[in-house]
Amino acid sequence: MTEGDGLTMRTRKDAWKIPATDQTLVWYAKAIAEMKKRPITDPTSWRYQAAVHDYVSGDDPLATHGEALPTPSDQQTFWARCQHGSWFFLPWHRAYLFYFEHILRQIIQKLGGPSDWALPYWNYSDPSNSSARCLPPLFWAPKLPDGTANPLLVSERVNGANSGHQIGTPADAENSTCLGKPLFINNSTGGATGFGGGRTGFSHAGGVTGGCEAVPHNTMHGAVGGPTGWMSAFNTAPLDPIFWLHHANLDRLWVVWLKGNSKHVNPTMAAWLTAVRFGFHDAGGSVVSITPSQVLDTRDALLDYMYEDESDPLHTAGPAVAPLAARTTMEIQRIPEMVGATDTQQAITLGQESSSVQFALQAPTGPALTLDAADSTVPREVHLNIENITATGRPIESYEVYVNVPDGDTPENHPELMAGLIPRFGIFEASRPTLEHAGDGLNYAFDITAVVAGLQKLGKWDPSNIRITFVPHRSEAERTAATSTLPIRIGRVSLYFA
Ligand code: C2O
Repeated sequence: MTEGDGLTMRTRKDAWKIPATDQTLVWYAKAIAEMKKRPITDPTSWRYQAAVHDYVSGDDPLATHGEALPTPSDQQTFWARCQHGSWFFLPWHRAYLFYFEHILRQIIQKLGGPSDWALPYWNYSDPSNSSARCLPPLFWAPKLPDGTANPLLVSERVNGANSGHQIGTPADAENSTCLGKPLFINNSTGGATGFGGGRTGFSHAGGVTGGCEAVPHNTMHGAVGGPTGWMSAFNTAPLDPIFWLHHANLDRLWVVWLKGNSKHVNPTMAAWLTAVRFGFHDAGGSVVSITPSQVLDTRDALLDYMYEDESDPLHTAGPAVAPLAARTTMEIQRIPEMVGATDTQQAITLGQESSSVQFALQAPTGPALTLDAADSTVPREVHLNIENITATGRPIESYEVYVNVPDGDTPENHPELMAGLIPRFGIFEASRPTLEHAGDGLNYAFDITAVVAGLQKLGKWDPSNIRITFVPHRSEAERTAATSTLPIRIGRVSLYFA
């Protein structure tokens, strides 16, 4: 590769702020049109690249009768590799984008475009942009400026997306919860959720979802795709060109999270850094492999890019930042203890209506008790777990989860009692058994420490009566589109002290 000469670092730009004279998005469209001309057997083709994320034979919307596919062993090695519900979520997608961007850049150069072209990002959370949650206009324009067909426009999106409407709700695009996570790693035994995901092996689906993967990643996938659109499924998401700008934004949030606070560190275990290699193809179609340890810093010679805006929205004053290498990994190790849960025999099925489950808490007897006794200056954390979320197909709803909404009240009127969102993205995939996992579904962990503290203050926290309410989470556009719903199932709702 000729990347990384160190002379000019490429800048991934904010798609909403690209000036009218700047052709970054037009070049993106032109390069995609070229990739689409290549057959699916070509690793640098549009469809092969999407299949690297996921491929479901029999569910490929672009399949043509009798077409040649890559050999089974090629498919096994390079397809359906995306890492979800895992601490590999961020590094895998960073590498995926990097090689994809390399393919685009080489095409753009051949077409006479800029040699430093870089993938832009979609910042749907930008408080200074009242259209932030709308698709940038070129993604729904019928034609490119030169009058040719626009490959950035796909019709398989949520109602309203292709007429310039806001997508999803502010809660879908919210990024301060994940950016505020002190640790990268989830406690995968049901406690705190970190920024980057739980410790896993190779993980294509399932697991405990990390903070940024849950919101805004999963939520914005579901918001753009709606109940049945391409962005709502692993195998079709990368066929929507907005996918790559969505992931550039996630990748940017990783940079922001690290830069914004000197205590934020990546995992330092070999199990994360080097134990798993990810295989891709470069722009020339050659096989390349890479480990998380090689993608830690976007400004390194290999990656050689930065983001137009890497400032931390939580610390606008600009904190003193220690170099990544100098950071220590000191952290409070909390051992979570489950203090209550629903009965696993009791099926929890969520459909088109709101529903609730109830359970009682027991006093802690294990680690949480020790924590209380040992150091009362460390406030106890409370985590709500939603376990084994499965579905038998699409379309499925996303849900809002509330804690102890007073009888007769409308949950939506109690944002202070909202624990979080269960996005639709990834649930169906996590429900299908694969080589790597049993198909026992997705898990979400919500930090509800503040919700509980608020209830306690009002004298409304009753450990003998915990009620969790699930409310279908629909944007304005989805409500008017009146789509049907397949239910999702939840194995158990549990509560942990840590
Ligand atoms: Cu691997 Cu946004 O998905």
